[in-house]
Amino acid sequence: MLSFSLTDEQKMLQETAHKFAEQEIRPKAAYHDKTGEFPREILQKAFDIGLMNETIPEFCGGGGLSVLDSCIIGEEMSWGCVGINTSRSANSLAVTPILVAATDEQKKKFLSPLCEKLSFAAFGLTEPGAGSDAGSVATTAKLVGDEYVLNGTKCFITNGGVADLYTIFASTDRTKGARGLSAFVVLRNLPGVSIGKEEDKMGQRASNTAEVVLEDVHIPKDYRLGKEGDGFKIAMITLDKARPGVAAASVGVARAALEYACEYAKQRVQFGQPIAMNQAIQFMIADLAMKVELARLMVYKSAWVTDQGQRNTLPAAIAKAFASDTAMEVATEAVQIYGGYGYMREYPVEKLMRDAKLLQIYEGTNQIQRMVIAREVLMPRG
Ligand code: CAA
Repeated sequence: MLSFSLTDEQKMLQETAHKFAEQEIRPKAAYHDKTGEFPREILQKAFDIGLMNETIPEFCGGGGLSVLDSCIIGEEMSWGCVGINTSRSANSLAVTPILVAATDEQKKKFLSPLCEKLSFAAFGLTEPGAGSDAGSVATTAKLVGDEYVLNGTKCFITNGGVADLYTIFASTDRTKGARGLSAFVVLRNLPGVSIGKEEDKMGQRASNTAEVVLEDVHIPKDYRLGKEGDGFKIAMITLDKARPGVAAASVGVARAALEYACEYAKQRVQFGQPIAMNQAIQFMIADLAMKVELARLMVYKSAWVTDQGQRNTLPAAIAKAFASDTAMEVATEAVQIYGGYGYMREYPVEKLMRDAKLLQIYEGTNQIQRMVIAREVLMPRG
């Protein structure tokens, strides 16, 4: 049965998130973009009203919400500022390997502290030599007695510099490549964990991106998630589950850019009339509006498939690639419609263009999404 309407609870969630974005995020977005200061105060308020850790199960103290619910929140928050949303949603990405592979006991142990007071988590897959080729992780985890000893460097880690908990992918058997990876929980306060370079980014400057260095970090054996060798699959399933969220964030950015472009086109007078009266502008707006609508439909579909417990690799990759390409296109065209003003920092649209670029890159570049889509279409897996 198809339904295109949200439930009353989802409408309330949307309204709450929108109000929060309007009142708490938008007024501070330019400040955090300019300074790169981590938006801890805003996230504290989001935490206080249940707009963080929403996908953590209730038995661990989380919101117990669905992926679709989380996408509804993410679109609104990203309409406010996607950099701030990324700091928030990075927690959800980081805890997903735990949701996918941990025992209930491990879930309680690692997830409850995140729900008790504001703290951050980070997903540690990427390395200098393992970006798109995620299976070539060089970080090692060696079993010594009852402990694993981890060594390696993770880079471009969202929340890397502020997290208390990391989900780390490391090789337990280098001879097996991707099939030799395992997943672990590493806590920030352990000896040997340190923060390396903190990145100065083009966009999404409110989010923290850092290197995480692991030097002879000893963790108990039961900090491993799933079996030895399951790490790559856990990472892939995690990314499949998280990509509808990136798509939702992209729709938030695209929608904000479209609204700004429409507002401006209606008030900017040239040749004696608002530029919105020109068919050239109207056709641009129509094309952008079509894509925003289609992107949202794909967000909802990919989230729904995920919530049904079905394999969502294909819809998640389509949603991520289409929605983030749309965000980039809408933001770029919004700058075009603003003309010279659009290029100036004083106006809001150039930030959206810088922010949107990252959506096409992180959680799997859009080239990787196309590779995944092509594989799924040409050689579907059961
Ligand atoms: N679900 C379950 N299992 C999967 C899977 C999926 N979606 N994709 C692959 N697998 C399994 C395969 O079935 C295969 O299993 P067997 O060993 O049993 O045969 C195994 O994993 C290896 O699969 P492939 O041979 O397909 O692997 P590959 O090396 O060709 O790589 C890839 C596949 C899709 C390109 C993968 O490397 C990939 O997704 N790369 C992109 C990585 C990425 O998204 N990084 C983002 C980092 S996180 C980030 O950006 C977050 C942030 O900070 C904001």
